[in-house]
Amino acid sequence: MIPTELRERLQRHGQDHLLAVYEKLTQPERANLLRELAMIDVAELQALHARREQKDALPERARIQPLPRPTIEEADCDDFFGRGEDAYYEGEMAFLIVAGGQGTRLGFDEPKGMFPIGPISKKSLFQLHAEKVLALTRRTGMRYPLLVMTSPATDEPTRKFFKRKNYFRLPPQDVWFFCQGTMPAVDLHAGRLLLEGPGRLCLSPNGHGGTITGLAESGILDQLEGRDVQTIYYFQVDNPLVNLADYLFVGRHLAQEAQVSSKVLPKTGPKEKVGNFLLLDGRCSMIEYSDLPDDWAHETDEQGQLKFWAGNPAIHLFDVEFLRELTTQADRMPWHLARKKVPHLDEAGHLVKPETENALKFERFIFDVLPQAERWTVLSTSREDEFAPVKNKEGVDSPESARAMMIAQHTRLLREAGIEVTEGIPVELSPLYAMDVEDIEETYKGDRRITRSTYLNEPMEFRKRTKW
Ligand code: UD1
Repeated sequence: MIPTELRERLQRHGQDHLLAVYEKLTQPERANLLRELAMIDVAELQALHARREQKDALPERARIQPLPRPTIEEADCDDFFGRGEDAYYEGEMAFLIVAGGQGTRLGFDEPKGMFPIGPISKKSLFQLHAEKVLALTRRTGMRYPLLVMTSPATDEPTRKFFKRKNYFRLPPQDVWFFCQGTMPAVDLHAGRLLLEGPGRLCLSPNGHGGTITGLAESGILDQLEGRDVQTIYYFQVDNPLVNLADYLFVGRHLAQEAQVSSKVLPKTGPKEKVGNFLLLDGRCSMIEYSDLPDDWAHETDEQGQLKFWAGNPAIHLFDVEFLRELTTQADRMPWHLARKKVPHLDEAGHLVKPETENALKFERFIFDVLPQAERWTVLSTSREDEFAPVKNKEGVDSPESARAMMIAQHTRLLREAGIEVTEGIPVELSPLYAMDVEDIEETYKGDRRITRSTYLNEPMEFRKRTKW
């Protein structure tokens, strides 16, 4: 029997079709359905469904100002840099990869982090990120938790991959996986919960905004506090250029006691497919490209520059204490609605594969945290230095474009270190070889001219097995 309270709740909120479905299920299927329903707020779903015709509520233009272009006084640079360096050398940092997405647009069947991105090495995105953390450990002698947020679809393969690869030589006890939560899909017209199989609801990841509750529910926030970690360095698995050793970014964030800090990217055009940083009632906020009205996107200032110039590479710093405060009020994070084609069972129990959008899915976005911060900083970066997202199979933001940008960056660093690199020759630096020009100057012992495809891997003398 469906418990009376649940039965009434389902009836009250337009989900009574599940009562008939329930009667036809086997005992284990019933138990599963009850378990899934226990985690769902059907009243909230009904309210969300009622908003289906509205675009994400756009604030009035009068409340919005462009984000001022960030500058740092020359005189402050050294202080900020030193402050950041201290935070790394005192082990007050953790790094967080959001890796819940699957490489659907990329045409890759595995979790996106397993995609082989190294232009010569073919190392995976996960390996690249893990090696950046290991390189920092080698440099500072400190250990940093590497937090990996997965989704139900990527969790098991991701954990297995790290295990199979020996955690890329990080201490296994410092790699902390946590799985983001899910939200059910509902049918577009009636708002009814959809079933993907007998006794199984159509559930999908709750968006990268799920990071906040995921960190708290997994106990990771407690563990971070226990290790005196003050700052979480957040980034997306799909960006091989992310720079995790940014003392200036971290130092300024700490010196200004910011709760959140973000890298911003001058956009390449008004409609570039990145989120837009702006000020909403004076606070740092974001409007996603798909929600930015055309006329706003094209607005320019007296110099003819785009007013909404600041793109989102999705690189943020979060103060751990601030995240703790947020978890007590996760309801302040809005849900975003997306229309999708969701295969499901019809009333007769047959699988339907819709040709058109038939369902609503709900996601929270991490950047909705931004306006909740009273104290925040932003720092400008460039695509060449820090943003080469791997999104599409080909063309813009593809593996090909990301690899070309990795090669260009590594060529630039080698040349700055005084090494000639023949034009058009692919070179790749392992993070364990060098993270910057100074590292190259110290480590590079070869010919001063590189004329052939070259992968500079971790020097032999560093490769000896590290005991943790
Ligand atoms: C996202 C940002 C956009 C930004 C761009 C930079 C949103 C809504 N937009 O766009 O502002 O300019 O990245 O690359 O995020 N993920 C999860 N769980 C989820 C959903 C996503 O972990 O439930 C992870 C993915 O693994 C990926 C990242 O979040 O690493 C971004 O997701 P994706 O769907 O690729 O976002 P974009 O639309 O590209």
